[in-house]
Amino acid sequence: MNDSIGRLINYLRISVTDRCNYRCVYCMPPDGINAVGHSEIMRFEEILKVVRVAADYGVSKIRLTGGEPLVRHGIVDLVRMIRKVPGINEITLTTNGYLLAKYARELKEAGLTRVNISLDTLDPDLFRKITRNGDINSIWEGIEAVEKNGLHPLKINMVMLAGINDHEIPDFMDLTLENEWHVRFIELMPIKNQISWGELFPDPASCYISTRKVLERFQNKGLKPVYQVDQIGPAKLYQIPGAKGYVGFISPVDDEHFCGSCNRLRLTADGNLRPCLMSDLEIPVLDAIRSEKDIHELFARVVKLKPAHHELLLNHSPENRTMTQIGG
Ligand code: 5AD
Ligand code: SF4
Repeated sequence: MNDSIGRLINYLRISVTDRCNYRCVYCMPPDGINAVGHSEIMRFEEILKVVRVAADYGVSKIRLTGGEPLVRHGIVDLVRMIRKVPGINEITLTTNGYLLAKYARELKEAGLTRVNISLDTLDPDLFRKITRNGDINSIWEGIEAVEKNGLHPLKINMVMLAGINDHEIPDFMDLTLENEWHVRFIELMPIKNQISWGELFPDPASCYISTRKVLERFQNKGLKPVYQVDQIGPAKLYQIPGAKGYVGFISPVDDEHFCGSCNRLRLTADGNLRPCLMSDLEIPVLDAIRSEKDIHELFARVVKLKPAHHELLLNHSPENRTMTQIGG
């Protein structure tokens, strides 16, 4: 289905939980968030109802997010159920990697297409600081399991944080030399995270760095733009000549045309459809589902409500949820 400015909406991101075993500094406060109570979280059958309606309107791609999606009990069953919905031909997952070694094989068997792993540093100490106590070994074990089970291509998401991990950007680019991975650099978005990250970190407002600046700074890598028809998505792709993988840049803040190709809606774990990541606008669907109402019309309304553009440059940033409550 097309939205009010003609964008084709064919992609739904489903946050299956707002909980996470990590507390990444840019994603949630040190003490975490008040996780939504059990009864307010969408049950699998309820999520499936939304997926079926979405598929009726032409959504073909689903991504499971969180919090951390793999901490949701029964997640593999959910993948299997979504996979069976007619019209859904791709199902992916964004994870911090911690439980991948455990679940990669089952996820593949259940029909998962591939995964994105969030990884902001290659340095074990910094990893522990950014995630507030994570162990980087779990990432390498998770990646091994992903490779072994053919969840291709692996995408790695690195949120660029000036003064914290930006010196590692060239090392991340080099990961693509020998691996068929997409290593994607993401601009830090101001999503309820402009509060102090703790004494080890600079002021959050100074941590933003644009992909434009990064491309200039690391010109010596010789990145060449790549144009592939089947690479529709928010990342602009590049390649180091001779590399096996790709480098991607995701510029939601700096690129004024970013929103023009947006193809997605979001469903929060507590049952709200969100037309835009960067707008607080939400339409509740859970009550309607629980009272057996048909939600086709609601879904169509959400598509039509999708804003043409975010308003970050006017200093309007979303305030009602942290990233762990939306799912990225
Ligand atoms: N800005 C940019 N990316 C973010 N992510 C989480 N919070 C932010 C933010 N404020 C990333 C995560 C994950 C993906 C879902 O979004 O690291 O890779
Ligand atoms: Fe958890 Fe991901 Fe948020 Fe980190 S960014 S706290 S891993 S949900």
